[in-house]
Amino acid sequence: MSNLRLRKYGDPILRKKARWVEKIGSEERDLLSHMAKIMHENNGIGLAAPQIGVDKRIVIVDTEGELLKLINPQILEMEGEEWLSEGCLSLPEIFVPVNRAKKIKIEALNEDKKLISFTIEGFSARVIQHEVDHLNGVLIIDYATEERKRRMKRSLEEIANHTRMLLEMEKRRGEKMYFK
Ligand code: NI
Repeated sequence: MSNLRLRKYGDPILRKKARWVEKIGSEERDLLSHMAKIMHENNGIGLAAPQIGVDKRIVIVDTEGELLKLINPQILEMEGEEWLSEGCLSLPEIFVPVNRAKKIKIEALNEDKKLISFTIEGFSARVIQHEVDHLNGVLIIDYATEERKRRMKRSLEEIANHTRMLLEMEKRRGEKMYFK
């Protein structure tokens, strides 16, 4: 698996609704370990496959003591609400207060193809909701007030410009070289 790098704001994959996973095999398990590696390298606590350029509904969440690996996760129930400022590896140095359910019921497949279902609350419940948002092309900036959006505008443009530059370089890497 080449080209698995952290995707940042401005990369079109972050705005796509990710595809449902139709089989769980070595490719998916490989992807999960790459995701864990990239998340840890970047000191993250959660990561969604589109954030490393893969169009699949897969997320990982670092709960205290356990790394949750969720394939095709669905939030079945939500309870309570709470505001907290969130960051995102795809949006460096951007923080937005987001209102999320305190407690959720989740259903997903694990890497052994088992259907799992559990209730989780607190911070990990928040991280799961954040990662499931990624699978639907939703980012924390979508929750920002107009005022906050105005204040973030320049920083967002900077991230997007850098993303565009990287994508352009990757595109050219694949072109034929005529000046050998
Ligand atoms: Ni994120």
